[in-house]
Amino acid sequence: MPPRSNAAASGGTSSTLPAIDLPDDMGVCACGEASRRAFDNSAPEYDSLVGQEELFMGLRLLRWWLLGKSEGRVLEVACGTARNIDYFRAAPDGATEPSQGVTSLTLVDASQGMLDEARRKARERSTSRGALAEVRVVKASAEALPLDDGEFDTVADTFGLCSMDDPVGALLEMQRVCKPGGKILLLEHGIGTWEFINGLLERSAPKHFAKWGCWYNRDVDAIVKASGLRVVSRSRWHFGTTYVYECEPASKAELDAIRSRRGG
Ligand SMILES: C[S@@+](CC[C@H](N)C(=O)[O-])C[C@H]1O[C@@H](n2cnc3c(N)ncnc32)[C@H](O)[C@@H]1O
Repeated sequence: MPPRSNAAASGGTSSTLPAIDLPDDMGVCACGEASRRAFDNSAPEYDSLVGQEELFMGLRLLRWWLLGKSEGRVLEVACGTARNIDYFRAAPDGATEPSQGVTSLTLVDASQGMLDEARRKARERSTSRGALAEVRVVKASAEALPLDDGEFDTVADTFGLCSMDDPVGALLEMQRVCKPGGKILLLEHGIGTWEFINGLLERSAPKHFAKWGCWYNRDVDAIVKASGLRVVSRSRWHFGTTYVYECEPASKAELDAIRSRRGG
C-alpha cells in the first residue's frame, strides 16, 4: 500500500495519497488547486460525463431519497453543476414552518466553471412548476464559508468530501452554519467494506484524482467521526463505497473543542 502522510500529499498527482488516518488533521491534503482546475476543466461536460454511470448505480434514487429530507433554508456545499436542484421540494407560498419544504437554497462551490453551470441550471428551472422561490450562488471554499452561524435549517453535501483539502474542516463549517437540531445530509463515496475493492481504489486513486479532482479512497466514516457530527442514520451501498448519512450538528462547545485540538 502506498504511504499516507500529510507531508507526502502535495500536488496529489504522483504516487502519494492524501492523508486519511491521522486523528488530528485527518484528510488534510494540499491538493485543492489541482482539484479546482480539474473541475473547472470538466464543468461544461460534467453532467454528460457522469450521467450514465449515476443512472446505472442508482445514485439518482439515493439523491432523491436523501435530499427530499431537506427543509427550510438550505445550504448545499460543493454543489457542482447543481445536479441536486430538482430533488429539493419547494415550500408552498407563505410557508411558515421548515417542515413545509425548502424556502431558499444557497449553492456554494469553489470552482467558477461548476458554479456557472449551476447558475445556468437554476435559471432554467426558475420558471417551471414547483420551482424554488430563492436560489443564490456563492463562490467559496467549504472550509471557510462566508455565512453566519446557525443560518440554515439543512446543510447538504453530495460527493464533495472526496475533493476537499480538509474534509473534517469542511464538516466543522457545515455544522457551524447549521442551526442547532438542524439536518446535515451527506451522500459521499470512499473506501468500501471489501478488501479487494479497497486495493483497487488505493492503487488507482492518484490517477483518478489527476483526472477527476477527487480522492475516492478516503475513509468517510473516520472523517465524519473526527468532525463530531451526531449521526442520526447511516447506510452504505455499492460494496460499502457509497455512504448516506443523516446527521445533526454537534454543540458549539463540542465544535470549539475539536477546533482547538486541530489547532484552529
Ligand atoms: C465530485 S463533484 C460533486 C458535485 C455535486 N455535489 C454532485 O453531487 O454532483 C465535487 C465538487 O466539489 C467542489 N469542491 C472541491 N473542493 C471544494 C472546496 N474546498 N470547497 C467548495 N467546493 C469544493 C468541486 O469544485 C466540485 O464541484
